[in-house]
Amino acid sequence: MAPDHTMRAVVYDKPFHVTVREVPKPKIVHPDDVIVKVTTTCICGSDLHMYEGRTAAEPGIVFGHENMGIIDEVGSGVTILKKGDRVVMPFNVACGRCLNCEEGRSAFCTVVNPGFEGKHIHLWLEVLTPNTQNHSAYGYVAMGPYPGGQAEYVRVPFADYNALKLPPGTDHEDDFALLADIFPTGWHGVQLSGFRPGESIAIFGAGPVGLMAAYSAVLRGASEVYVIDRVPERLAKAKEIGCVPVDFSKGDPVDEVLKIRGGKEVDRGVDAVGYQATQSDGKTEQPNIVLESLIRIVRPTGGLGIPGLYVPSDPGAPDSHSAKGYISFPFGKLFEKGLTLGTGQCNVKAYNRYLRDLIVAGKAKPSFVVSHNLSLDQATEAYDKFDRRIEGYTKVLLHP
Ligand SMILES: NC(=O)c1ccc[n+]([C@@H]2O[C@H](COP(=O)([O-])OP(=O)(O)OC[C@H]3O[C@@H](n4cnc5c(N)ncnc54)[C@H](O)[C@@H]3O)[C@@H](O)[C@H]2O)c1
Ligand SMILES: [Zn+2]
Ligand SMILES: [Zn+2]
Repeated sequence: MAPDHTMRAVVYDKPFHVTVREVPKPKIVHPDDVIVKVTTTCICGSDLHMYEGRTAAEPGIVFGHENMGIIDEVGSGVTILKKGDRVVMPFNVACGRCLNCEEGRSAFCTVVNPGFEGKHIHLWLEVLTPNTQNHSAYGYVAMGPYPGGQAEYVRVPFADYNALKLPPGTDHEDDFALLADIFPTGWHGVQLSGFRPGESIAIFGAGPVGLMAAYSAVLRGASEVYVIDRVPERLAKAKEIGCVPVDFSKGDPVDEVLKIRGGKEVDRGVDAVGYQATQSDGKTEQPNIVLESLIRIVRPTGGLGIPGLYVPSDPGAPDSHSAKGYISFPFGKLFEKGLTLGTGQCNVKAYNRYLRDLIVAGKAKPSFVVSHNLSLDQATEAYDKFDRRIEGYTKVLLHP
């Protein structure tokens, strides 16, 4: 057993390698903090951008932004939560007090993300956030001083705001774990597209986020949901929830959807792929390929939701423009069709309470995407297989 002041955690060593090893156990550093003993923590497609060396992540960073568990220690300023509470944390850290937080846009909190407010420095946060980052998350490069939760314990700042209480016990553990990121993010993608019940929608990407977007569209009353990917196990999951799977390794997916629909475009489209999108071979990256397809596949005055990640700089980009975050796409066509477009990190706080209640009421069961429940100690192998999208690795949950 580890001594009291250390714990096991998933540590990034170098591109394509993580190990589970002893790191310092987190302590309360501000009265608003709690320490959570992690029961479940998920590996995310977003972790793979760091894992593959496609970010500025330095060796030594502890991964893990999708965390749930039991409160183990409570800071003196915490009022709503108590030791023993079962909680899940949104992947993005937010203060709960600034303009964006008050208006439900917690992903754009200006207190933990001083970059959104110019260089304004916040009193005690000066020590904790000595930069001007524009996003905050646990265990993520350039997203603040919040170590990840792929570990035995995680520190949660502004805890009354950032920890969502769950019913006690162990029911729905896999479903609740997905409230940290992918279920709200999939829902957000559909929301950003301007979707209304009865409409048709095309979702690019059947990774965890794409599948959750597809599932959200089903729950929200879509007439038809097309899901585009090339990984057979992922397309099979889309079919399982009543969507039409489209394999883009077999031909142009827009042509295929239009063919199925007798030439009619869909009402809405979601990009759940992001900047590491590939051509049909699954290897050659083309960062604008999904954006181009969305503009073609959505009807005039329809809408595009883009939760897939795009970055302002990409050390591994296929060309010098996308290396600086410049992605070209046919803006003229977008204008001609009068399409609307929404993008950005998911404001998890805007949805997670309601999605929790859908799970409790038995009306949503997002855990159908979970392919593997493993011990934290199996993380090295799990990252490798998830990264190669082999052996059905779709969504991996780790248990410390
Ligand atoms: N906005 C947010 O808050 C937020 C939150 C979580 C994840 N993300 C981002 O969402 C994206 C998806 O996350 P994920 O965990 O599902 O990742 P993932 O890598 O597991 O899934 C992406 C899927 O896209 C498929 N794909 C690649 N090129 C394609 C193409 N041209 N057409 C159709 N499908 C294609 C891949 O085969 C893969 O199955 C990532 O970019 C991730 O960083 C954003
Ligand atoms: Zn995630
Ligand atoms: Zn805030």
